Amino acid sequence: MHNGNIVTLSIATVSLLLSHSLRAEEKPMMKAVVAHEYGAPEVLKLEQIPRPEPNEEEVLVRVIASGVNPADPLTLSGKYAREFGTHLPLIPGYEIAGVVEKTGANVTKLKVGDAVYGYPTFGGGWADYITVKEWEVAVKPRSLNFVEAAAVPMGALTAWQALVDVAKLQPGQTVLIHGGSGGVGSFAIQIAKARGAQVIATASTANQDLLKQLGANVAVDYTKTKFEDVAKDVDAVLDPVGKETLARSYGVVKKGGIVMSLVARPDPAEIKKRGIRGAGISVHPDSEDLAEIAQLIDAGKIKPIVTQVLPLSEAIAAQQQAATHHTRGKVVLRIADEPKA
Ligand SMILES: NC(=O)c1ccc[n+]([C@@H]2O[C@H](COP(=O)([O-])OP(=O)(O)OC[C@H]3O[C@@H](n4cnc5c(N)ncnc54)[C@H](OP(=O)(O)O)[C@@H]3O)[C@@H](O)[C@H]2O)c1
Repeated sequence: MHNGNIVTLSIATVSLLLSHSLRAEEKPMMKAVVAHEYGAPEVLKLEQIPRPEPNEEEVLVRVIASGVNPADPLTLSGKYAREFGTHLPLIPGYEIAGVVEKTGANVTKLKVGDAVYGYPTFGGGWADYITVKEWEVAVKPRSLNFVEAAAVPMGALTAWQALVDVAKLQPGQTVLIHGGSGGVGSFAIQIAKARGAQVIATASTANQDLLKQLGANVAVDYTKTKFEDVAKDVDAVLDPVGKETLARSYGVVKKGGIVMSLVARPDPAEIKKRGIRGAGISVHPDSEDLAEIAQLIDAGKIKPIVTQVLPLSEAIAAQQQAATHHTRGKVVLRIADEPKA
């Protein structure tokens, strides 16, 4: 009887020990959209993969929503792997909104439970969880839900860093914003207006209403009107289109003004000849910029335009839309339900 009890106990102990060590080895899993090879959006697969762990400098974020950008299909193509710092396997997603789940030992500003939004430098947002550096995220605008907040970081940071940091746009100045209905342009119009500038914005016929709704003083339908006939002697141009649009933009800028392109380096010969300035813009994550943008949003000065919300299983369709370069506002992937306040 006594011996029997001992045997039973030791079997129970062994199985307990075994189950503990098995659990210790089992990594928590998560769903993610993954590419194991570069190529068209169709290479993307929805998979179960191990959840990442934050290092000392990082926080683990439970992603509620992630924005879609033209940079996603560009990265996936593999053509700019060196410039984007990407490597395989690749998880797309340069915009996130979510909740801090864990913090690394050296993290000082964020704590577990904080609602955050931001721009992870190397993507990775199309997953249940992501690890990010503290400087890549900021506290989410309180007036937005997570889907709306995920539509902000990349477009708003790009517009902010171009108009505020580079052009140093002043009240009363005039700016020409090409592609005013897109992910960057829709924020650029609102940021320029919030800083007291006059805005001339371009888009196709179907988006003229949106340009006005965002606050453009003058809306130009580029399919019907040459922007040069409307915009003259402007202080700054923001160009997310390139090629012919950029080539025709130098002539509308006043002496000392600036042409900023998101997709090319302005031509030094044109810049010199006309006595203007030129800048190729390269957006970077910045938690202080994100915090200032959040303040403007909560003050009701700027807002994201979300035109489509898709589940993670529609990642391929989302990338195909991003590659059209004709998205109205933003497409956002919903990854989890909105947490209860
Ligand atoms: N360098 C950087 O750091 C940086 C950062 C962010 C984005 N980008 C790049 O900037 C570009 C724009 O990004 P996004 O997120 O705004 O893209 P998006 O959401 O696809 O918007 C593109 C916009 O351009 C408009 N458009 C297309 N052809 C045009 C033309 N000929 N004239 C005037 N407008 C035209 C479209 O309006 P319609 O549909 O009405 O034609 C659309 O509103 C992308 O190539 C992206 O990769 C670069």
